[in-house]
Amino acid sequence: MAQVKLEGVGKIYPGNVRAVKDFNLTINDGEFMVMVGPSGCGKSTTLRMVAGLEEISEGTITIGDRVVNNVLPKDRDIAMVFQNYALYPDKTVYENMAFCLKMRKFQNPNAAPGSDGFLTNLFSWWKLRQLKKAEINRRVMEAADILGIEELLERRPKALSGGQRQRVAVGRCIVRNPKVFLFDEPLSNLDAKMRVQMRTEISRLHNRLQTTMIYVTHDQTEAMTMGDRIVVMKDGLIQQVATPSDLYDNPKNIFVAGFIGTPPMNFFDATIESKNGQLIVKEDSFSLVTPPEWKSKIERYTGKKIVFGVRPEHVGSPTAEALDNAPKIPATVEVIEPMGSETYLYMKAGANGFIARVDPHRTCEVGDSIDLAVMMRSAHVFDVDTTECVV
Ligand SMILES: Nc1ncnc2c1ncn2[C@@H]1O[C@H](COP(=O)(O)OP(=O)(O)OP(=O)(O)O)[C@@H](O)[C@H]1O
Ligand SMILES: [Mg+2]
Repeated sequence: MAQVKLEGVGKIYPGNVRAVKDFNLTINDGEFMVMVGPSGCGKSTTLRMVAGLEEISEGTITIGDRVVNNVLPKDRDIAMVFQNYALYPDKTVYENMAFCLKMRKFQNPNAAPGSDGFLTNLFSWWKLRQLKKAEINRRVMEAADILGIEELLERRPKALSGGQRQRVAVGRCIVRNPKVFLFDEPLSNLDAKMRVQMRTEISRLHNRLQTTMIYVTHDQTEAMTMGDRIVVMKDGLIQQVATPSDLYDNPKNIFVAGFIGTPPMNFFDATIESKNGQLIVKEDSFSLVTPPEWKSKIERYTGKKIVFGVRPEHVGSPTAEALDNAPKIPATVEVIEPMGSETYLYMKAGANGFIARVDPHRTCEVGDSIDLAVMMRSAHVFDVDTTECVV
């Protein structure tokens, strides 16, 4: 197990493509860190630099207490699972997992020093071979047990489902007993149900092994459900590093607020106005009185444009509707999406479309005009120029 530290790391590809810029992050020993962001934001490049598959243009990467900038991938003590994991088609599952260990040098811990003579050497060589075979077998069987694939060991990859193949790919990493696991979108080739299942399996694997893991995905649900902490990236830059709940409740800027959460946060262009000693979020079709504790943070925006953000579950939800004197947004129902446990209402307020996550038993019809209560204390105000969250 090991800590992984990236300091001022950057990657410039030929043609002056700056894929990663000034990346500073410490992944703690045993931590499950997820890197998430839209396509092309530099996730794979960062992971490949940690793995040693991509040269580092700037900065330092440390694994454990060793700077690895110039260390070959095979000597970094890491194991990586890719989206397109290539298993050897002509080898069995057992052989696929054992193969990389067979290629490794193996030390006999009980070797007698200074022994010589042809027969003694031959015997040592044979003994070492037996020991190595036994150790490989032990590790493969242990990995198979962890992943629940014991009954598949004699099969070849073409006789496996996508999820089973993915488990073998992970098994190949486990047998190596690496200090750090790296995953690059390992579940994207699986169907939705299998993805959910493998997601929990990888989390369980982390709980059991307690090895440092870095997991790249563009799927924010995977990020939220698996990560101890999440790094949100955009255009090669870190936007925010935080625990899943902190990221959700306290997004640093509009990008993070809109990227994390499904359905996404609703945004409205509005202004802050002062009325009867209260500060109000004013939009053409609604006025929302802000909580008094916002005053010191939003006062300087009085008379100015801001972006108002509110998550679907904080408009018209049972909790919002139960609040005393909650300000309301009058809007028209455009589409109703019953999800079973909740219903999404696609609403229109003036020129703005937004989504409300309401009680599934709430009765309304398309075309109805309704007032939806807003949980202001869970909503946000963003600076138009910097896009940073103000409250
Ligand atoms: N070998 C290369 N040469 C030049 N540019 C590259 C190279 N590899 C990647 N890039 C560029 O670097 C940027 C980051 O790519 P990267 O593969 O790290 O993105 P990503 O976040 O993993 O995206 P995705 O979610 O699509 O996998 C992109 O703009 C990409 O076009
Ligand atoms: Mg990628």
